[in-house]
Amino acid sequence: MIAVVDGFGVQKQKEQETMIMIEEPQTHTFIGGCTGSGKTVFASKLFQQSNRLAIFINTNNEVLPEQKSDIVFHDIDGFCHAINHYKKATRLCLSPTMEKDITIGDINEIIQILFDMGKNINENKIEPTIWCELFIDEIQEYQAKHGKAPYITRVWKRGRRYGIIGIAISQRPADVSHTVLTQSETHYLFNMGIYEKGYFSAYGIPVFEDEYMEWLQNDYHYLKYEKGKVTMYEPVEI
Ligand SMILES: Nc1ncnc2c1ncn2[C@@H]1O[C@H](COP(=O)(O)OP(=O)(O)O)[C@@H](O)[C@H]1O
Ligand SMILES: [Mg+2]
Repeated sequence: MIAVVDGFGVQKQKEQETMIMIEEPQTHTFIGGCTGSGKTVFASKLFQQSNRLAIFINTNNEVLPEQKSDIVFHDIDGFCHAINHYKKATRLCLSPTMEKDITIGDINEIIQILFDMGKNINENKIEPTIWCELFIDEIQEYQAKHGKAPYITRVWKRGRRYGIIGIAISQRPADVSHTVLTQSETHYLFNMGIYEKGYFSAYGIPVFEDEYMEWLQNDYHYLKYEKGKVTMYEPVEI
């Protein structure tokens, strides 16, 4: 790298480091924080960087996940078509339309198909290959409204065995299933409301400390909690 010793050069170098620091997920992941704190932008970045089959459940019909995807689909037919006919596609985005919201039934069917594919891919492997990432934005919409959502929970319970990783995004962890929260070994936490702070501290995640809380006051800054360790991160580039 060229050493540019002016302010701009230093700034640039810093941004690059920040970008490189988002690692490919190896475990189920939870992304939390209040509305507007930067969760969907961050998740879209992870989605964009994925080298696996990545599926983004775009609950709020946001533009960014669609922009980062190879194919946008709206129902199971669209999903099957994308899987069967566009082998090169790695990023698929399920978005609602004016006529049709995303339903828990859509998500269940997708999960079922992914598990069938995962069984073939990872048959008899002791250490399964992780080949698929399932992003679910505002996951509480499916869990709170529709009971326990066993298919979604199954991804967090048994997905890894089939090579599938779940990435849950929510502004209301209190409405997210205990399984999803406890089976997520990686947590990315953005600015939170008082209620959520208490919630995470109840789970033994030490984000309550002043230093971390002050860090989260800065726009789109976030914390990563993994293996008992908290790391502070600067915003990702959109
Ligand atoms: N890393 C970032 N850098 C710059 N702007 C950001 C960043 N993250 C979020 N924003 C801005 O904040 C808005 C809300 O972010 P978003 O990720 O949609 O929030 P959330 O999903 O937590 O409600 C975005 O539309 C964007 O304008
Ligand atoms: Mg969002």
